[in-house]
Amino acid sequence: MLQTAIEAAHRAGKVIAERYPDERSVTVKGYRDIVTEVDTAAESIIIDLIGERFPDHAILSEEAGGAGIGAGTTWVIDPLDGTTNYAHRVPCFCVSVGVLVGGEPLAGVIYDPLRDQTFAAERGKGATLDGKPIRASRTSHLSHTVLGLDWGHSDAVRDRVLEILLRIAPRCGTVRALGSAALALAYVAAGWMDGYFNLALKPWDTAAGTLLVAEAGGSCTTLRGEPYRADIPACLATNGLIHDELLAIITDSAQP
Ligand code: IPD
Ligand code: CA
Ligand code: CA
Repeated sequence: MLQTAIEAAHRAGKVIAERYPDERSVTVKGYRDIVTEVDTAAESIIIDLIGERFPDHAILSEEAGGAGIGAGTTWVIDPLDGTTNYAHRVPCFCVSVGVLVGGEPLAGVIYDPLRDQTFAAERGKGATLDGKPIRASRTSHLSHTVLGLDWGHSDAVRDRVLEILLRIAPRCGTVRALGSAALALAYVAAGWMDGYFNLALKPWDTAAGTLLVAEAGGSCTTLRGEPYRADIPACLATNGLIHDELLAIITDSAQP
C-alpha cells in the first residue's frame, strides 16, 4: 500500500508541477476556500490508481468526498494541499495520501512536487525522506524553536489562533505559516520545524502527516493533550520535547 501511495502521489505531483506555470481556473467553494482544476485532475489520478489496485478499499478524498472513516481500510487523500499557495504561485504545496485501518494510520506519503521530495512512513517502521530515515528535532528550549501554524478559514478560528499566537510568539524562536498543513507536518517529522498547530484540520490534511511525525519520534495530540485522531479538527504536533510546555501555553490562552 505504501508503494501505491507513493506512486499515486508522484503521478499526481507530476501533473501539479507541469501545470504550475499555466493560467488557473479557480472556483470558490466556501469562505476563504478555493479549488482549481488541478486539484480535481490530481485527485482523479490518485483515485484511479488506488481503485485499480485495491478495489475493495474505501476512499475519502477532499474534492470527491466518499466514505467516512470506518473499521476497514480507508485511503485518505488531499490531492493538493496548499491550494491557495498554488493559485497565487507561492511555491509551497504538496500531495498527501494516507492509509487508515480502523481509523489508525498505517502508511502515509507527502510529496512536494516542486522540490521532488517524498516524505513517507509506515507504522512501526519509521519515517523517511527520499528513502533516508528522518527524525524530529531535538530542540528542547522554546526560545530556540521554529514553530508553524495555519490560519483556518473562519473568523472564529482565526480569533483563537491569534489568542494563542499572542502567548506563543514572545516565547519561541519564530513562527511560520506555510499554508500547507500536510507539508508543515512533514517538516516537523524531518526536524525542520519543531512544532505545528492548526485548529481547523480535515482528515485529509493529517492522515499521512501525523503518522510521519509519530514515526519520526514526535508527538501529535489534541489541544487537550489527548491522542490525536484524524477526525479531530485541532492538532498540536511537535518534536515531543516541547510538547507539554507548548500545550500548557495553548490551553492557558484559549478554550481547546
Ligand atoms: C488547507 C491548507 C492550509 C490549512 C487549511 C487547509 P487545502 O488545505 O492545509 O494550510 O490552514 O485549513 O484547508 O484547502 O489547500 O487543501
Ligand atoms: Ca488540505
Ligand atoms: Ca486540498
